[in-house]
Amino acid sequence: MRLVVTGGAGFIGANFVRTVVREYPSARVTVLDSMTYAANRASLTDLLDGAGLATAGLVELVEADCADAAVTERLVAELTGPDDAVVHFAAESHNDNSLATPWPFVHSNIVGTYTVLEACRRHDVRLHHVSTDEVYGDLELDEEAKFTPATAYNPSSPYSATKAGADMLVRAWVRSFGVRATISNCSNNYGPYQHVEKFIPRQITNILDGRRPRLYGSGANVRDWIHVDDHNSAVLRILADGELGRTYLIGADGEQSNLQVMQTICELMGVAGADGDPGFDHVTDRPGHDLRYAIDASATREELGWEPRHTDLRAGLQQTIDWYTANRDWWEPVKDRVEARYASTEKVL
Ligand code: NAD
Ligand code: TYD
Repeated sequence: MRLVVTGGAGFIGANFVRTVVREYPSARVTVLDSMTYAANRASLTDLLDGAGLATAGLVELVEADCADAAVTERLVAELTGPDDAVVHFAAESHNDNSLATPWPFVHSNIVGTYTVLEACRRHDVRLHHVSTDEVYGDLELDEEAKFTPATAYNPSSPYSATKAGADMLVRAWVRSFGVRATISNCSNNYGPYQHVEKFIPRQITNILDGRRPRLYGSGANVRDWIHVDDHNSAVLRILADGELGRTYLIGADGEQSNLQVMQTICELMGVAGADGDPGFDHVTDRPGHDLRYAIDASATREELGWEPRHTDLRAGLQQTIDWYTANRDWWEPVKDRVEARYASTEKVL
């Protein structure tokens, strides 16, 4: 099997490459990544130098923009085997950044996906497009409903709008040009190698660094957490047995309010509660902040026989805390810059 993994030096993509290498030791993986601020070569170093592989040379990194048609075409054209595929993770992925500077989101998420689609169309290569539940907008805090593949798209931010646009391009290229593609829309991921701008690693590394954790607004907003390895095991199931043209929802029934997650992190890291101090600060809320996301993944579970394995969020958070504690070299170089950026807009309430 030969895979081109776009965005493979980012959080989910790097974990995906690590899973592929573990489960398919003879697979060849080409990571196509433009190495934006969100990428980290250190997430793949052992694989790139061969130390973490059964056979050296099976994982390579091509540093390029997936919207660069010449490079993307060249790599996609090499995928000639029956199990070969492009797994398209590359995207600008952070809502807060999309509110400050939307253009890179339009470029990478829409033009990038268009370019990948055109290459797959020209060379008749199987594509899996990785998307988010945020394309569906948000749910009320108190309603029973969850997102299903039939939920209408209603994105709120430049990030989710550009991901929605990308999904629509994939659907159109399937229908109009017969591109052999599947789509997955997954809920919020957590785990190792996630950039410290994101909610869970930001709070963990704040505490490790002696800074106060930061909760947007009251913390009532609900996210549906899934461990990154469960997301990636579902992507591999879809690649193996997914029906072409279909959209699969991926989630692990991990709904918790941000306040609950914050309290668990503070408790596990021993900073909660002295003298009525919760151990964290409430700060300015995100504009347009989606209230609640929740995924109904029953069709994916039933049709593909996929099950998440990390269903205890508290245990998953402890494992993630342990990883950031043991891997300071991975995150420390970017931490100050991220916090300086937040400090320019964030006010303690
Ligand atoms: P990330 O920001 O950690 O990584 C994205 C990677 O893509 C980075 O390595 C970056 O350098 C690369 N990239 C960006 N633009 C590129 C371009 N034009 N060409 C090549 N590479 C480019 O993001 P992530 O959290 O790993 O998310 C990966 C994918 O999963 C995204 O498509 C995202 O929308 C989707 N997703 C994320 C979550 C989540 O909770 N993080 C949930 C559901 C879906
Ligand atoms: P984030 O990790 O940015 O993911 P998304 O916007 O895709 O859901 O944020 C997760 C939730 O945590 C979201 O409701 C915003 C909130 N949040 C905080 O409360 N504090 C923070 O410092 C950050 C980064 C996010």
